[in-house]
Amino acid sequence: MLVFQMLLAFQVIGSGVPAPLVIAHRGASGYAVEHTEAAKAMAFAQGADFVEQDVVLSKDKQFIVTHDITMEETTDVEQVFPDRHREDGSYYFADFQWDEIKQLIMHERTRRGSESPALEKRFPGSAGQRVLRLEDEIRLVRGWNETTGKSVGLYIELKGPSFHKKEFGSNMGEWLLTLLAKLEVQPDANQCYIQCFEMQELQDLHDRLDCKFPLIQLLGRPTSAEDVSKIAKYAKGIGPSLDLLMRRNERGEIESTGLVEAAHTAGLLVHPYTVRKHQQPRWSDSLEVTHSSILQKLKVDGFFTDYPDLGRNAVDGRFPTKAN
Ligand code: G3P
Ligand code: CA
Repeated sequence: MLVFQMLLAFQVIGSGVPAPLVIAHRGASGYAVEHTEAAKAMAFAQGADFVEQDVVLSKDKQFIVTHDITMEETTDVEQVFPDRHREDGSYYFADFQWDEIKQLIMHERTRRGSESPALEKRFPGSAGQRVLRLEDEIRLVRGWNETTGKSVGLYIELKGPSFHKKEFGSNMGEWLLTLLAKLEVQPDANQCYIQCFEMQELQDLHDRLDCKFPLIQLLGRPTSAEDVSKIAKYAKGIGPSLDLLMRRNERGEIESTGLVEAAHTAGLLVHPYTVRKHQQPRWSDSLEVTHSSILQKLKVDGFFTDYPDLGRNAVDGRFPTKAN
């Protein structure tokens, strides 16, 4: 067995194929409340290569690490600032100063208006944590890297650029570049990716702002090979939903949709989202099938996962040259 593993390791080194990246989706969000310091620390300790930050803007233009542009599903804003909702009943980060947001406590995602005890109980150990700004999280990851000798990277998603443009009149991508420059985050694929669903925002970063950070176009809908070629003009990779990668044919066998192959032909990286323990893409019936399909059949370049420990094991078992 050992000899076999050594031979395999030699093959991987010889072929020069880098191990796929394990990207912790909102932190280790299968184990702790998403985007809390607890979730990020756990992801770091579990061996993620990158930790993801979804970001939105506060009224005073601070980047807040959170998935939604609204606050009520993931914070206690309704208790702390009950009168500050808009006509639609939602509370927007864009209406609050950082000094106010930092008073809020994060909790497990709830359905609006009905706190779900089942959800609340999922992560009792990480409840009660406060909201982070992007700059706070960058300092945390940097500190953990310094103390452990690791080089875990950042994977920042701009959330709602169109919404923010309407609210503030400018592109949030431009402000992000300013912040990253101020914090001396290097535009290097080992350190930081920038991802977004909105094509225009990424094109603006590439064409007008000459952004050097590797850009990842997120995809939630079927995408043609022609569209993939267009994406290759401004992005370094795609981040497709797992559902878009494979399908079952009439014999019930799993086969590629061709998206990964088209992306690789166009020179793009492929980092699909999101691998979960209890919820598989439409074409898979187990976590093992999901891992083996994306890592061995499709040969993706990385993947988002709520379970960085399981992702790390899945990669290390197939690419045994990884040091940890
Ligand atoms: O950014 C990859 C994946 O996280 C996209 O989906 O909604 O979880 O941000 P979402
Ligand atoms: Ca995301």
